[in-house]
Amino acid sequence: MENQLTVANQPQFHRLKVAKKQQLTKQAFALELEIPEALKSRFQFRAGQYVTLKYHFNEKEIQNDYSFTSAPSEERLALAIKINGENSSTKFLFDNYNVGDEISVSEPLGRFFLNSKPNEKRTIIAFASGIGITPILSHIKNILIEEKTTRIFLFYGNKSYEDIILKDELEKLQIESGGRLECFYFISQAPVKDKLFQGRIDEKKVSLIINQILHLDEDDEESTIWDSTDKVLICGPGAMIKSVANACYNHGIPKKNIHFELFEAYNEDIYPMEKEFPLIENVEVKIKFNHIEKDGIILKNNERKILQQLLDLGYKLPYSCKSGICGSCLCYLKNGEVDMTEDEYLTDNEKHQGKILPCTAIAMSKEIYLDFDMI
Ligand code: FES
Repeated sequence: MENQLTVANQPQFHRLKVAKKQQLTKQAFALELEIPEALKSRFQFRAGQYVTLKYHFNEKEIQNDYSFTSAPSEERLALAIKINGENSSTKFLFDNYNVGDEISVSEPLGRFFLNSKPNEKRTIIAFASGIGITPILSHIKNILIEEKTTRIFLFYGNKSYEDIILKDELEKLQIESGGRLECFYFISQAPVKDKLFQGRIDEKKVSLIINQILHLDEDDEESTIWDSTDKVLICGPGAMIKSVANACYNHGIPKKNIHFELFEAYNEDIYPMEKEFPLIENVEVKIKFNHIEKDGIILKNNERKILQQLLDLGYKLPYSCKSGICGSCLCYLKNGEVDMTEDEYLTDNEKHQGKILPCTAIAMSKEIYLDFDMI
């Protein structure tokens, strides 16, 4: 049964015209949407954000999220979409929506952000897999425009060379960047001459990348490129994000500098629990979200994070990283006690005010009341 919180949490939709459609690979296409003058302010976005497209397929309403591939300064809504199979809703979208057709589009959503540092010379490492390149491409363009001396290294995995989505655009950016962008492609299901570039991007591959590609820094002989990494961006399937994020963390990057966004319903924790907590069973939770209160929610025990247990029970609460980095799940703890495994996103003042991140919180009392509306 759909719970009340699901109904309340609806983004704002508008009808937009398709301005451009282009097949990118056998299984991916680009879709550009026209923004009427009157809606321009509603569709201002930040690099890393996405929109939800809403349409009917097989008598069902489909709602899917797609990240922008454009940078905010380009002032266009460009998306790249993976076709998930012959009879999929995405194939229907590709076959049936043409230039001039209208489709329902949500206002920009998501918090896969990176704050711009125009006066700093940063090193940013990006990992993408398949269609996960979309928000990463938006970030790359934005960084190249906004931060004139920052350099970016992209490690991008696909099944074959033919499957590399938006390769032409990446190559063009690489040439135009004057050495500030370097792209490396990894192929998992076709032969590759150099074995370093054969296979998926996982924990082992990240170690090889660090030791064989990011080991020497021409800009600073006393350091390695990896040692000067300021931020890591990751986008791909949940298992890939988990494996790459843990590899980066284990190789010394603080969790607060590892940014990613989970699109698919991935119900595993990204980072393993590093502490043990006394067991509490049958935790009773009350939540308030979008002015609707729901009490009497029972969590089996406190062995898993509060947010994940609520999501598993069907409560559509806000989240993005599920790792205490983005702040999407921020709420007030109005009653009860929790222990947060990660809280670097919160300032001391916010902690004082009772703000918590339920994605990293373990229940430490039998009763918990979370208010998502006071934020
Ligand atoms: S979901 Fe990102 S901080 Fe909780």
